[in-house]
Amino acid sequence: DRYQLWGGCFEEEPSAVLRRLNDSLSVDSRLYREDVIGSKAWARELFRSGHLSKEDHDALQSGLDKVVEEVGQDLSNHGRLRDPEEDIHSVVERRLHSHAGDAALRLHTARSRNDQSATDTRLWMLASSYRLRNALTDLIAVLVTRAEKEIHIILPGYTHLQRAQPVRWSHFLLSHTWTFKDDVIRLEEQRKRLSRCPLGSGALAGCALAIDRSRLAQDLGFEDVTPNSMFSVGSRDHIVEFLNWSSLCSLHLSKLAEDLIIYSSQEFGFVRFSDQFSTGSSLMPQKRNPDGLELVRGAAGLMLGNSVAFSCILKGLPSTYNKDLQSDKELIFTSYDKLLDCLKVATGSVKTMEVNGEKARTALEPGMLATDLAHALVQRGVPFRRAHHLVGSALRTATALGVDLQQMPHKEYLAICPEFGSEEELRAIFSWDASVEKYSSAGGTSMSSVQQQIKDLNAWINET
Ligand code: ARG
Repeated sequence: DRYQLWGGCFEEEPSAVLRRLNDSLSVDSRLYREDVIGSKAWARELFRSGHLSKEDHDALQSGLDKVVEEVGQDLSNHGRLRDPEEDIHSVVERRLHSHAGDAALRLHTARSRNDQSATDTRLWMLASSYRLRNALTDLIAVLVTRAEKEIHIILPGYTHLQRAQPVRWSHFLLSHTWTFKDDVIRLEEQRKRLSRCPLGSGALAGCALAIDRSRLAQDLGFEDVTPNSMFSVGSRDHIVEFLNWSSLCSLHLSKLAEDLIIYSSQEFGFVRFSDQFSTGSSLMPQKRNPDGLELVRGAAGLMLGNSVAFSCILKGLPSTYNKDLQSDKELIFTSYDKLLDCLKVATGSVKTMEVNGEKARTALEPGMLATDLAHALVQRGVPFRRAHHLVGSALRTATALGVDLQQMPHKEYLAICPEFGSEEELRAIFSWDASVEKYSSAGGTSMSSVQQQIKDLNAWINET
């Protein structure tokens, strides 16, 4: 028989199809621990405030301990709960009744599933955001470690996917790392708003029994209480923030994935993914495909979809609790699961890939030093705009002669302008290592600038 938390004034049972649409157990069973933790704290608060006898309180505490163990067992044995109840709250209360007897009938005193489910979800999100944070800092650590080790590798930097200027491979890796660090900080900034306890808000009006919500919140590890009971049960802004954050973070992963996928193509050949993070083709024996990072790239679309979907649900909803809100959990669970896997696949892929510094170097071509050539003219007093044009002329002459900038005879340069300097000075421009070393201001690609970035990131990693 189905244990239902409502229905006293109903004459008929809900239709089967409404039940199917309404039941949320398959999704919210995942909150069983939080539901029990919340219920234990609620029972403690009822007891401390004089609304529950010691005997009933003790029965509830030990009963709830049994419930959490039992439900955990069932979930690990069957992968799901086979209880007929509509949601996890009903399951916990029915099972509690079998352990604690009629004391179970007192647990829901002055509580609603509206404040209960909001509390469960916030508790779950607080714990989950730590796991996401750790997965992100793992990725950051792997990127920084590679950047430290491979600082001598120079590769083409691209804009518009066209060769632009030489950069250190480490500089490229760190460009992604800083982005992920911002993601960590953004995640932490949500915590203050997330860490507020809605319990004690009832269905919408608050709690008519004298309880101490601050004590209750503290008991559950929240930093604060939600400031208004109608806000408590109706606001899902923390979920909007989380879904938007997940979407942004996955967007960053998709960029890293795309860069590395391009670099792993035979045409580039800068990186090679390990067997652990590659897949093959059923038809073409030679194939080594970056499916992992392609899935990471694609997941960004799914996560953007979830975040848009939830804001669409909220749009135009009236105040306080409406059942539309029930979908929040499905969306946060799918975004969370996907993002965590994506972070781990990205971390594993980056950690185990091989970098081919030789191949990267052969992709550099002298045209990429045209900017440095213009800077050399600037140093000899030529205004930059004119220098830009003069180097443009040099490129045109070189193309007409069928050579590159490095091969073009010195006299051709002098014919364009004397500020191109001596043959020796000109030759010194055509060095990849000398080029990157010129970019030594903060955040540049020179050895010292990159090392400073590594130092700053390591300091941040150590203090977090
Ligand atoms: N399963 C519901 C949810 O997660 C819990 C709140 C139910 N409250 C209600 N009045 N129907 O949103």
